[in-house]
Amino acid sequence: MINDIIEIAKQAGAVVREGFGKNFKIDYKTSENNLVTEVDKASEKLITDFITKKYPGHSILAEEGSGTKNNSEYFWVVDPLDGTTNFAHGLPIFSVSIGVQKNNATIAGVVYDVMNDVIYSAEKGSGAFAGSQKLIVNRTSKLEHSLLVTGFPYNIAENPENAFQKFETLTKKARGVRRLGSAAIDFCFVASGIFEGFWEVHLHPWDICAGKLIVEEAGGLVTDFEGNEINIYSKKILASNGVIHDQIIKEFEKLK
Ligand code: IPD
Ligand code: CA
Ligand code: CA
Repeated sequence: MINDIIEIAKQAGAVVREGFGKNFKIDYKTSENNLVTEVDKASEKLITDFITKKYPGHSILAEEGSGTKNNSEYFWVVDPLDGTTNFAHGLPIFSVSIGVQKNNATIAGVVYDVMNDVIYSAEKGSGAFAGSQKLIVNRTSKLEHSLLVTGFPYNIAENPENAFQKFETLTKKARGVRRLGSAAIDFCFVASGIFEGFWEVHLHPWDICAGKLIVEEAGGLVTDFEGNEINIYSKKILASNGVIHDQIIKEFEKLK
């Protein structure tokens, strides 16, 4: 199955790359900062058509709405273009993210970093990879020596979960905090050891499913802001190398 997921992520990524920098139709979703382009939709159609054909009967949740609910133990969770705002503005940081669950547990995940042409992949119990290279989180043990990444949801103006205060606190405490604009890539860069940690509020299942497994299979930890186990529907996500996890939680606790 993993080879199929990789193959379709690459094909969808090729559609996204082909559309990058061209004229494409943009629509607004919930607000004027929440975009969807015709490229998001084309990528999604390719992926959902592939799944329906090759794995008929499997359930699919896809961000732009072309999923199907079946009575299956298999559940595909698809973000056809993660980083749409970057894509629409010509910033080459975006990805395709596909996770597969069996009986509510993620068994495989693939994130394709489109412009760097890197496939991140993981299967439950078999490690995480960038191409053929095995991934391992780094072991930095001090928050002060850590480079972190975060993102902001489209309702950031409402400051959900004190998102601005969290950003301020960790910006002062860590070596730096980046904001790349593709949650799936943020997870993969924690798995690769580039970032020690990533947090965000109000993400969606398609932002989380593949990336969470990739971090865990690279030896990292993904929980909520209190250290509790989470699922793909959780609204508070903290992913880290595991070592600095509690230090971040402590900083968040001070803001309560
Ligand atoms: C968004 C990106 C971004 C994150 C947003 C997501 P989209 O996904 O992952 O990094 O900050 O919360 O919604 O809309 O580009 O697929
Ligand atoms: Ca997304
Ligand atoms: Ca998306």
